[in-house]
Amino acid sequence: MKALILSGGHGTRLRPLTYSQQKQLIPVANKPVLFYTIEDVIEAGIRDIGIIVGPNKEQVIETVRSVDWDADIEFIYQGEPKGLAHAILVAEEFLDDEEFVMYLGDNILKDGIVDHASKFRELNPDALILLTEVDEPQRFGVAELDEKGRVKRLIEKPKVPPSNYALVGVYFFKPVIIEACKNIKPSWRNELEITDAIQWLIDNGYRVEASIVTGWWKDTGKPEDILEANRLVLDDIKPKNEGRVENSRIMGRVVIEEGAMVRDSVVKGPCVIGRNSQIVNAYIGPYTSIGNNCVIEGTEIEDSVIIDGSVIKNAGRIVESLIGRNVRIVEADSKPKGCRFVVGDNSNIVL
Ligand code: TTP
Repeated sequence: MKALILSGGHGTRLRPLTYSQQKQLIPVANKPVLFYTIEDVIEAGIRDIGIIVGPNKEQVIETVRSVDWDADIEFIYQGEPKGLAHAILVAEEFLDDEEFVMYLGDNILKDGIVDHASKFRELNPDALILLTEVDEPQRFGVAELDEKGRVKRLIEKPKVPPSNYALVGVYFFKPVIIEACKNIKPSWRNELEITDAIQWLIDNGYRVEASIVTGWWKDTGKPEDILEANRLVLDDIKPKNEGRVENSRIMGRVVIEEGAMVRDSVVKGPCVIGRNSQIVNAYIGPYTSIGNNCVIEGTEIEDSVIIDGSVIKNAGRIVESLIGRNVRIVEADSKPKGCRFVVGDNSNIVL
C-alpha cells in the first residue's frame, strides 16, 4: 500500500502565519503537524509515501528532508489547490494503480492509523473512510450509514444531520477512486471534492466501508485548533530535561530540550521548552510550547504556542496565544508609553 499525504492548500484560516509558513509545518508540542502524519503512515507499515506540495513547496521539502525517515518519500507538485480529489489526479502516476491511504497533512489522530489500515486489508472494500462522533455534526462532512455500517451517503455541513459521524481526514482507497475523481465536476467553491468522488463510488455500486475513530482527532485548520491540538499532545508528553535549570521551580511534566536554560522562573507542565531557548524570571504555565531559540523574560505565558526565534520581554501575562516565528513583544523603553504595533495583514490582537 502507498500513502498520499496532502501538504498543499493556502491555509487562509491560519493567516497571517500561513503567509510565510505552510500550515502543515506549524509546530504542535514543537513538532510540525505534518511529521505526526508521516510517523502514523510509517507506523502502519507503509514505506512508499507521496507528499502533495503547493504554494510553499520548497519549505515543505526542506523540512521533511531534514529528517532521516524510514521510508521513500516523493514530492508531487499541485500547481493550484483545486481540491482533495484534484490532488489524487495530480498524483495518478505516483499511485500507479495501487491501493493507498490519503491522509490530510494538517490532521492529528491520537491513536494513529494502524487499526484502520488492518480493517481496510481485512474488509477489502473499494474505500474505507474514517469517522468520528461529534457534538455538532452541522459543522462537518457527515456520513449516513446503513444497518450493516456501510456508507450510504455523504453530506457536507447538513442542516439536519442523518448521524453524528463526521469525516476525519484519512481515507483508504482502491485505484478505482481515480476513475471517480475523473467523473465528478467542480463544486460551488470550484474544487474537486473528495466527498463527491466517494459518493460517485457509492452511486456506481462500489463498496464504501467506515471505521470509527475513538481516540481524539484534531483538524488544525484554525488558530484555536492548533492550541487544542497542542493541549491534547502535551497531555501525553513524557518529561525530560536536557537543558539547564537554575534557581527555578519545575512542576509536573515538563520537557526542556537541549541547550535550553531556565533561570529564576516557575515552569508548570505539561509544557515544552525548545532547543536553545532562554526562560528568565518568567512563569511558563500548563499547555504551553515554547519553540527553539526563543527568549522569554519577565513574562507569564500559559496555554499558548510560541514558535521559533521569538523574543518576549516584560510583556505581562499572555494566554491562549499563537505566536509565529521571530516575533518581538517587548516593553516600551521610551515615551510615549502605550502599545505600539507592527503587525501583518489579518493579524488578531485581543487586549
Ligand atoms: P483545507 O483545510 O480544506 O484547505 P486549506 O488548507 O486551503 O485551508 P483554508 O480553508 O484555511 O484556506 O485542506 C485540507 C488539507 O488538504 C490541508 O492539509 C491542505 C490540503 N490540500 C491540498 O493539499 N490540496 C488542495 O487542493 C486542498 C484544497 C487542500
